[in-house]
Amino acid sequence: MTSQPPRFSPETLMMSHGYDPFLSEGSAKPPIFMTSTFVFRSAEEGEQYFKWAYGLERRELDQTMGLIYSRLNNPGLQILEERLAVWDEAEMALSFASGMAAITTAIMAHTKPGDVVLYSMPVYGGTEFLLLKILPKFGIETRSFPADMPLDDVEAMARELGDSLALIYLESPANPTNRLIDIAGVSSIAKKLSTDDRRILTFVDNTFLGPVFQKPLALGADVVIYSATKYLGGHSDVIAGAATGSRDVMEPIGVYRTIMGSMPDPFTCWLLLRSLETLKIRMEAQMANAQRIAEFLQAHDLVEQVFYPTLLDPDSRQYAIYRAQCTGSGAIVSFEIKGRKAEAFRFLNAVKLCKLAVSLGGTESLVEHPASMTHSDILPDVQLRFGITENLVRLSVGVENVNDLITDLTAALEMSQCKDPVSAGTP
Ligand SMILES: Cc1ncc(COP(=O)(O)O)c(C=O)c1O
Repeated sequence: MTSQPPRFSPETLMMSHGYDPFLSEGSAKPPIFMTSTFVFRSAEEGEQYFKWAYGLERRELDQTMGLIYSRLNNPGLQILEERLAVWDEAEMALSFASGMAAITTAIMAHTKPGDVVLYSMPVYGGTEFLLLKILPKFGIETRSFPADMPLDDVEAMARELGDSLALIYLESPANPTNRLIDIAGVSSIAKKLSTDDRRILTFVDNTFLGPVFQKPLALGADVVIYSATKYLGGHSDVIAGAATGSRDVMEPIGVYRTIMGSMPDPFTCWLLLRSLETLKIRMEAQMANAQRIAEFLQAHDLVEQVFYPTLLDPDSRQYAIYRAQCTGSGAIVSFEIKGRKAEAFRFLNAVKLCKLAVSLGGTESLVEHPASMTHSDILPDVQLRFGITENLVRLSVGVENVNDLITDLTAALEMSQCKDPVSAGTP
C-alpha cells in the first residue's frame, strides 16, 4: 500500500511550494530572474511553447511548459501563481500588474459586444468606472443591483436580461461599507440560468477578506479576483493583482493577459512571494486589532454607526450571510463620525499614528474619506444610495499595538468636534 503524501496547509506551503532550490544553485529563496527573454534548446521547443501559450493547442497536465518571454512567463511569476492557487484551492491562478489589471483583463476575456455584466453595488470606485464608463464604449452593457437586494429580485433581474447576460460581478464585503452578498446564492442563480450554449460566470472581488477568511470558489464562484496591493502584498510597497479559478475559465484570461501585457514584473512577483509567507499571521493579527477597535468605536459617543461584520444585528440577513460564508471578519472598519464632512475631515487631519492615505491591507493603519477619495468618481446621489455618506470614514487596521491605535483614534475623535482649526490640527 502506498501512503499519500501529507496535505499541508497553505500557510505551511508558502515557504516551499512550487520552488526547487536545486534549479537555482541551491538558493534557499527563489531568486529574481531579471530577464526579458529565455533561451530555447531548439526551434521545435520554441514552436511548441508558443502553441500552448497562445492557446493554439491545449497543453495536457503532464506536459511541461517552458519559459519564453517575461510578458508570458517568468520563474517568479510561475511560483507566485502556484502559491496563489493553493490559498483558494484553485486549479489555476494568474497574477497581474494591479488589481484593476486583473479585473479588466478577466472581464474582457469573458465578454463581447452585446453582452451584459450585472454587478453589485457598491464596488471599488475604479471598478465602477470601468463598468459604467469604459466597458459600454466597447459594446458591453452593465447593470447594477444593491448588495442587499433579496436573491429573488436578483434572479428576476438576471432573467430579464435573457441571453445577453454573460457575467455577474460581485464585491463582498463591499468597499467601503462592508456590505455582504450571498456568494453561493448568486452563483447558483448564474448556474441555473446558464445553458449548454451560454455559461453565465460569477466573478467575486475577494480583496477585503482575502483567501484566509473567505473562499468564493468553494461557494460556487467561477473567478476570484484580488487587488494584491492590499492583504496579499500587505506592506503598502507593491501594486499588483491576482485571479484564481478553474483551468477552463482562467486560460482565456491568461491569453488576454499576454496580449494586453497586464502581468506583474519579476521584482513585484518576488515581493509578493515574500509577503505570502506571512499572509495568515498578518491577517489574523490585523483582524484581532480591528475587532477591538470596532467595539471601541461602537461604544464611542462621537461615532454614529460602525460597519463591521461581527457587529451586525445577529437577527439580520447580512449577519446570516456573514456566518455562512466568512471564517473571519477582516480588518476594515468603516464608521460614521457624528456630524458632517467637516467633522470627518477634522478627524482625518488629526490622526497621528494612523496615516491619512488611501489603500488598505498593509501592516500600518490607514484612514481615508471614501466620498471624496476612493469613491469620488461615483455620482453623489449614487454614493448616498449605497451608504457612502459625507461623514463616513474607512479605517484599515494594521498590526500596531491596539492600545496605541485606540489612543490615537480617541484624540482624533475629540478633535473632530473642535471648530478651532489650530487646535483641530488642520493646516
Ligand atoms: C476591493 C478593491 N478591488 C480592486 C481594487 C483595485 O486594485 P489596485 O489598486 O491594485 O488596482 C481596489 C483598490 O483599492 C479595491 O479596494
